[in-house]
Amino acid sequence: MSIQNVLLTAAFAVVVSSAAAHAEDKGNAAVPRQELEAKIVYCKTCHGLSGQGFRGAFPMPRLAGQQTEYLENQLQAFIERRRTNPVMFNVAHVLSPSMLTALAAHFKDLNPKPLGGAPKELVAAGKKIYDDGVPSAEVPPCATCHGPEAKGADAFPRLAAQLDDYVAKKLLNWSKERGQDPAKPDNSAIMQPIAHNLTEAQVKAVAAYLSYLE
Ligand code: HEC
Ligand code: HEC
Repeated sequence: MSIQNVLLTAAFAVVVSSAAAHAEDKGNAAVPRQELEAKIVYCKTCHGLSGQGFRGAFPMPRLAGQQTEYLENQLQAFIERRRTNPVMFNVAHVLSPSMLTALAAHFKDLNPKPLGGAPKELVAAGKKIYDDGVPSAEVPPCATCHGPEAKGADAFPRLAAQLDDYVAKKLLNWSKERGQDPAKPDNSAIMQPIAHNLTEAQVKAVAAYLSYLE
């Protein structure tokens, strides 16, 4: 079995079990329109007026076009502190399951242009890593899971047009921020060895490539 097949088998096993757990959530009640609108305005003060991301004291990730299942998973991970971020814990822990679902649907439908700003000279090297992986370091092609155009699917996030500084920061700190509850392993385990095996230069290159994809 090749490394890709092993990883994919592991990936689908974890993703499927998380989807099953999710189905038991009560996220189907209607959210009052005004309450939803107010929340969206609040999210956009940090994540950008069209959800395109924003650079402040630190990079605020793009949410526009993000897969709904992934977005909801992350909000839940912040709430349960499996993913550590003090800002997003405060934002997320007050949201009802129905609100999480409604917010995810809203951001999925936005399609602003990429924010840009990454070093263009890294793009070609980044594309090669994205399409082919780094076989010598046992890094599978990113495209296998995130899709040929980096649009993601279900629990696999969209990476297209994500801020390069955000992507780099996440990949370089993966095991310190994600999957922080050993009693509750989650999908972040799939990315852990991949993030770990990339060098900083490779991370910066692939992040630059992704940031310009529409
Ligand atoms: C005060 C600023 C702020 C506000 C308001 C805010 N966020 Fe965030 N959000 C952040 C930051 C900073 C991060 C990056 C955290 C990290 O580095 O891991 C983030 C990350 C996220 C992520 C993870 C994205 C990914 O690609 O993994 C989601 C999902 C998210 N926010 C959704 C929301 C939603 C929905 C709202 C409104 C209810 C919201 N945020 C409001 C600052 C904010
Ligand atoms: C075996 C499948 C798989 C492969 C291959 C893969 N990823 Fe991922 N990736 C995932 C999954 C699943 C997640 C979501 C993890 C979670 O929910 O915590 C993810 C999350 C991410 C995130 C976090 C996104 C965010 O918004 O915070 C980044 C960045 C990322 N991957 C980059 C890459 C890059 C770059 C490559 C190639 C070098 C790659 N991935 C290869 C499955 C994969």
